[in-house]
Amino acid sequence: MYRKTYAVIDSEKLKRNTKEIIKKYSKYNYYIAVVKNNAYHHGIKIVNDLIEAGINYLAVSSLEEALDIRKINNEIPILVLEPISLEFIDDCQMNAITLMIENLEELKKLNEKKLTYPQKVHLKIDSGMNRLGFKERTEIKEAVKIIETNEKIVLEGLFTHFATSGRNDSYYDQQLATFKELTKDMHLKDIPIIHIDRSLTFVSHKKPSFVTGVRLGIVLFGFNGSIKPTKNIKGKLSNLKRQFVLKRNHISESILENHLKLETAFSLYSTVMSIRTVKKGEIVGYNGFYKAKKEERVATLPIGYADGVTKEFQNVAINGKKYKIINDAMDMLSVLVDESVKIDDKVEIFGETISIKEVTTKLNINSYHLFNLISNRVPRIHKDKEKEIEIKY
Ligand SMILES: Cc1ncc(COP(=O)(O)O)c(C=O)c1O
Repeated sequence: MYRKTYAVIDSEKLKRNTKEIIKKYSKYNYYIAVVKNNAYHHGIKIVNDLIEAGINYLAVSSLEEALDIRKINNEIPILVLEPISLEFIDDCQMNAITLMIENLEELKKLNEKKLTYPQKVHLKIDSGMNRLGFKERTEIKEAVKIIETNEKIVLEGLFTHFATSGRNDSYYDQQLATFKELTKDMHLKDIPIIHIDRSLTFVSHKKPSFVTGVRLGIVLFGFNGSIKPTKNIKGKLSNLKRQFVLKRNHISESILENHLKLETAFSLYSTVMSIRTVKKGEIVGYNGFYKAKKEERVATLPIGYADGVTKEFQNVAINGKKYKIINDAMDMLSVLVDESVKIDDKVEIFGETISIKEVTTKLNINSYHLFNLISNRVPRIHKDKEKEIEIKY
């Protein structure tokens, strides 16, 4: 690494998270890690940590992402969550990629292909998200018939996707009912993997008996979605109000608090590259956005909006103390510092002193967006018990 701006990805924490989830929710046969978008920008190297800790299936968005994973893991089954054009069926077959099938036309086209190897498919049911999936019971019935008559197409999985958490709304219940209705003609027991939940719906609802798998995304990266009830009067009142709303709208009971002990594994650092003293009235950076109110000490850091970090982050931490960001640019940030700060000091953008929660609150975004902001220009240092490896994506 030449430019000292980097993310540290702690693989031990990711392994602990995975083991904790599997230990506390042990009734599934398939733990499917959703590792799209470069494993939520943690870097795909982490898939081998997740697998070591118990993950036995992966899911990604595209064939590109699936094939990137194949470069580092040849065995783990991979499901692509979006349709793949059948002109690439050979790439799927050669790399043992599981296809999702979301409409009859695509299945008919697949049925006509001369497949070299058995092709695993998961049927997607549109229970109300209205993005992808079968919406008609008759079409699902026909799809099953086609699969049954083609020995090269293997119905390994059945799934759907929830639009809401169902904690305070009835849409989860409606989607679940729709899923059951649409799949009434299927022999669910004969399908090895039935997966309906994502992280937040998984921790918020009891596992339906027919479900055998779960798709785990953000929970693996340290977010358990738990809400602790406050014991003061305000908390009690808000709980009473919630119970009333649930009853009035016939919303089934859900779980707000869980005791999953998870850690975030993604920290971001830079370095003090230069320090100067500016006089009262001098500006710092572009456009005179910051004007010194008195004689001040300004540190310049080699990190900017091209890396995903802007002045809206508000603070950085140096030696455990927070300092204010006063201006930003594509590649640099300016920070007000005191006499204790020296050139080459390590700067934390988030990590030990500044939590991810603190940053997402300031930016008014969620953790998915924060991870996504940190661009692939930032090398990821993949750290485990024995070594640290720098990875450029
Ligand atoms: C189909 C599907 N399943 C599961 C997930 C994982 O979601 P989460 O990170 O909330 O667990 C995603 C993520 O976008 C998804 O698109």
